Amino acid sequence: MQYIQLNNGVRMPIIGYGVYLVDPSVTERCVMDALSVGYRSLDTAQYYENEAMVGAAVRKSGIPRNEFFITSKLCLSRPSYQRAKENVKGSLQRMRLDYLDLMLIHWPMGNDGEIWAAFEDLVKEGCLRSIGVSNFYPEQFDLLVRNASIIPVVNQIETHVFYQQRPMVAKMAEAGTAVESWGPLAEGLNGIFTNPVLTEVGAAHGKTAAQVALRFLTQQGIIVIPKSVHRERMIQNLDTLDFDLSDEEMEAVRGLDTGHNLEGWPSDALSYNPQDYRR
Ligand SMILES: NC(=O)c1ccc[n+]([C@@H]2O[C@H](COP(=O)([O-])OP(=O)(O)OC[C@H]3O[C@@H](n4cnc5c(N)ncnc54)[C@H](OP(=O)(O)O)[C@@H]3O)[C@@H](O)[C@H]2O)c1
Repeated sequence: MQYIQLNNGVRMPIIGYGVYLVDPSVTERCVMDALSVGYRSLDTAQYYENEAMVGAAVRKSGIPRNEFFITSKLCLSRPSYQRAKENVKGSLQRMRLDYLDLMLIHWPMGNDGEIWAAFEDLVKEGCLRSIGVSNFYPEQFDLLVRNASIIPVVNQIETHVFYQQRPMVAKMAEAGTAVESWGPLAEGLNGIFTNPVLTEVGAAHGKTAAQVALRFLTQQGIIVIPKSVHRERMIQNLDTLDFDLSDEEMEAVRGLDTGHNLEGWPSDALSYNPQDYRR
């Protein structure tokens, strides 16, 4: 595994396993499969309603807690400092964990300064090792860091070959915040798995289109958390760090950028109400 050193010195695996839309009834089995093939970084969220099953798999695995990197995300209506603190402790209780490696604000919620202050205090209390944001675009990001003592370690944003987010990647590099891609396989949309450019580049390395799409991101230092309920695909997605794309191949994949997010997702976080976009 390769790691990204976050701005607080913590090392985060560059490939993790995401569980969005993994049905709670199969989440424990899927996470056990993911752990058995080598994943140690897990990405869940309160909104996914499967935190408890992720925590159950972690305990059942018998793998020492300090070998994991576990992320969840806060979702809160009417945010306040106190409610944010209680809400994070709710995640810890559901997962039956003493701490999380990373807690994110899932999307800008309108009172993010108070949530952030609660997160910062939870770091001091030892409940959270690292804190970050998700779906924060320049305006919300700048607003948050203006009064922050801790700079977000990551910003988890939609990033894939069809929506490469070059301006955000540059902005985050300047801020010292790592980019974590959600939807690194474009959620399986736009014909990604049979895309001719990705397929041709993959053929030169004995890899699939999916593997090229993931390597294109990790080669730029972008963290990925692909989701699959299939063990063989989990293996395939993890087996993506043993080859490098040449400059010409990177350029060819850069040419797939449409500059647009996936159909069905909002184009900016200001209009983000996940209830409207749940698949
Ligand atoms: N912060 C946010 O707002 C946000 C939003 C969305 C997602 N996320 C996080 O990011 C993670 C990943 O994003 P995502 O789940 O939306 O989409 P994704 O990982 O880009 O794509 C998942 C889709 O690709 C298929 N797939 C996976 N590996 C494959 C392979 N090697 N070959 C062929 N098909 C493959 C999966 O099908 P099968 O399962 O059937 O294999 C599924 O349909 C989520 O699980 C979640 O943790 C965060």
